[in-house]
Amino acid sequence: MGLSFSNSTIDDLKSQINIVDVVGRVVALKRAGANHKGVCPFHNEKTPSFVVSEQKQIFTCFGCGASGDAIEFVKRYYNLDFNEAIEKLAGEYGITIKRNNFGEDREKYYEINKEAARFFYRAFTEQKNPGYMYMKNRGLEDATLKKFGIGYADETWDSLYTYLKNKGYEDKILLELGLISESNGKKYDKFRNRVMFPIINTSGKVIGFGGRAIGDAVPKYLNSPENKVFQKKNNLYALNTTKQDIGKEGFAILVEGYMDAISLYQGGVRNVIASLGTALTENQSKLIKRYTKNVVLSYDADSAGQNAAMRGIEILSKEGCKVRVLHVTDGKDPDEFIKKNGRDAFLQLVDDAVPYIDYKLRYIRKGMDLETEEGKIDFIKAAAGVLRELSPVEADVYIKKLAGELRIAEGAIKMEIIGNTTNVPGPLPQRRSLHEHEKEDKKDNLSPLEASLFKTLFVNPVLTERLLDFDQAIASTLGRKVKDILFELYGLSGDFHLDQVLDRLEPEESEALTEALSNVVICGNEEQVFSQCINTWQIQCLSEREQDIIARLSLADEENNPESIEALTKELMEVQQEINSHGGRK
Ligand code: UTP
Ligand code: MN
Repeated sequence: MGLSFSNSTIDDLKSQINIVDVVGRVVALKRAGANHKGVCPFHNEKTPSFVVSEQKQIFTCFGCGASGDAIEFVKRYYNLDFNEAIEKLAGEYGITIKRNNFGEDREKYYEINKEAARFFYRAFTEQKNPGYMYMKNRGLEDATLKKFGIGYADETWDSLYTYLKNKGYEDKILLELGLISESNGKKYDKFRNRVMFPIINTSGKVIGFGGRAIGDAVPKYLNSPENKVFQKKNNLYALNTTKQDIGKEGFAILVEGYMDAISLYQGGVRNVIASLGTALTENQSKLIKRYTKNVVLSYDADSAGQNAAMRGIEILSKEGCKVRVLHVTDGKDPDEFIKKNGRDAFLQLVDDAVPYIDYKLRYIRKGMDLETEEGKIDFIKAAAGVLRELSPVEADVYIKKLAGELRIAEGAIKMEIIGNTTNVPGPLPQRRSLHEHEKEDKKDNLSPLEASLFKTLFVNPVLTERLLDFDQAIASTLGRKVKDILFELYGLSGDFHLDQVLDRLEPEESEALTEALSNVVICGNEEQVFSQCINTWQIQCLSEREQDIIARLSLADEENNPESIEALTKELMEVQQEINSHGGRK
């Protein structure tokens, strides 16, 4: 997102507010020397380690490492983005702020979209039209249609274009917004004879449209193109309407389709949102997390829907969401189900939704024959890869469960989880000091991260070129040996196969590699998995740096050394910003 305010506007604002007051509104602060202290609002603690410096206008928590200025505090405490935080502060302190032209420019885009939405809405409600008939036939009530501002784009080629042109809007923006198209110099309405779903962001601005064909015309849905105000990856359908319901219920139900969302809403299941026809993104997860961290995935019953659920799980859990997966038992999607079976039956499905680990275990179990010894072993190996992500306590629960079901000793499953990894299982990347990191280099076996990286390379050798830039991510002895072989083979022929690599390793090494690779289950696209691995590794390195800085900071605090506290805080903020720019820690 671009900044809507200039640096001087931001500096102005900061000079007029006092961080002690901003924080003091929500955290009880006590004066301690030159600073103020309180209980950190960003993590659970009993003894205050959250320090606000009036002089430096920053806050730092020596417990969890949160730190920043007043704007950062407002961002984090109220879950706002940068611009929203500035607006909130300016509003509360009665300070007038100037937006960049960029911001005004966006307003124009929003205004045009709103005009278009109104135009479609009138066409839908003021006279007989195929769009309204279609939605009525699908069982939607007037109140629902109104709530979501559903409209109709008529079948003419220029009604919207003429209307907007008469209002004086420039063709250039209409084209950019995708409301009109151009061919051979002729401009015409892009949406024709479609039911229009306005897509509205959480600030209530119309940012784009989804247009559903009436009947079987293709494409089924025509969506606004990506533009300055519409980025699919940053938005979710229906969230503007349902965010309060999500807060009230304490969880969000994430569905695939526009229709699913409004149909569940009408059926009385209101805490619903829909991804915009793409795989769930990191930013969408972050957006959800502003309202709740509990998500029930309710994707279509077909295999595309189930694969999408697997990817959704990865993305959401990475953002720290608690995910459960709902299985639609009757009908192809939530829309069909609730129309047929009603609210209570759907809520029963919600109750029955399984925690994501169970879902993943079921997913890998599919197609494996657990009656045979071989099948059992394959399954346990794959399952170990899943359980490795869990905290030891969580893992223990599942180990017991699996051991009982498969009649295998718990210890054996534990061995499988710990074996072939250098890390103790745990949800966070292990934090090590730099010295320990050097020790780690001498470890023989592949780490799970290395195994995943190599697995993606064997699926798609071209990724080797990308690994060149991050070869530090491979640190174990075996890993480096494998990496060198891969680079050499790829350099010679632009390709390689697992067998070629195994041939060049010692027997026990090739066994270890095969084993490590078999523990990796790649869900989805290997390029994405590769990028995720690199990202995880980068966050791991940054987290190590962050820990070092925090340690030095607390020392500086004890020593009462303001210069180094200031320098370190600045460094810490930079590292944390960088961590955030990588999507944050789990
Ligand atoms: P679905 O095909 O499941 O659509 O696609 P749906 O919402 O259930 O609609 P109905 O019930 O068939 O009318 C799920 C979502 O994928 C996107 C849309 O966001 C849709 O809601 N999609 C689908 C497109 O963007 N384009 C398409 O051609 C199809
Ligand atoms: Mn549908």
